[in-house]
Amino acid sequence: MKDILFATANAHKILEIASLLGPEYRLKSLAELGIKEDIPEDGDTLEENALAKARFLFERFGIPCFADDTGLEVAVLGGAPGVRSARYAEASGDMMARSAANIRKLLEALSRHTDRNARFRTVIAYLDGEKEWLFEGIVNGTILEEPTGSGGFGYDPVFVPQGSARSFAEMSLEEKNALSHRARALKQFLAFLHS
Ligand code: IMP
Repeated sequence: MKDILFATANAHKILEIASLLGPEYRLKSLAELGIKEDIPEDGDTLEENALAKARFLFERFGIPCFADDTGLEVAVLGGAPGVRSARYAEASGDMMARSAANIRKLLEALSRHTDRNARFRTVIAYLDGEKEWLFEGIVNGTILEEPTGSGGFGYDPVFVPQGSARSFAEMSLEEKNALSHRARALKQFLAFLHS
């Protein structure tokens, strides 16, 4: 089994990714290494943020590591909230409170628009000590007029992936993994790791 470090403090992401990684790899999380806070994400693109997080960890722990950064890109808002998805509403409080505020701001921004097309885009950066690689996963969909469902996290209650009648928050983890941006980026990454 090979150790691989994943740069996130988000327990939902750990669950999603551990269930996709397979038995060959042991996923180490930041919590296992005693890092409780998220690593700062102040780049201008998802690519910059993912690379910065992976580099930060590689410098400290020296084992292969990967980091992801995700943005919800809404067409009529010119790609916003995009790289600012986590702090779109600049709200304080716990993750649930911040997500609720972000969703409120998004629905308000879209209230005058009929075009509700959006996509989630995930970028994964991987460092093995010799080289750096980037992988991308996209899922297209639409934004609902009000939150629906209680699963998932972030913008899941308002995002309906193309071809589905339900939001990500109404799906099981397996259903979301079959379609999601992160699963798609991870699939590219895993194909690379296993090649
Ligand atoms: P992160 O930088 O990858 O953690 O993602 C930034 C923000 O995008 C998160 O704080 C969430 O609000 C949102 N986000 C990321 N992935 C998902 C997802 O799978 N579903 C819903 N929202 C997500």
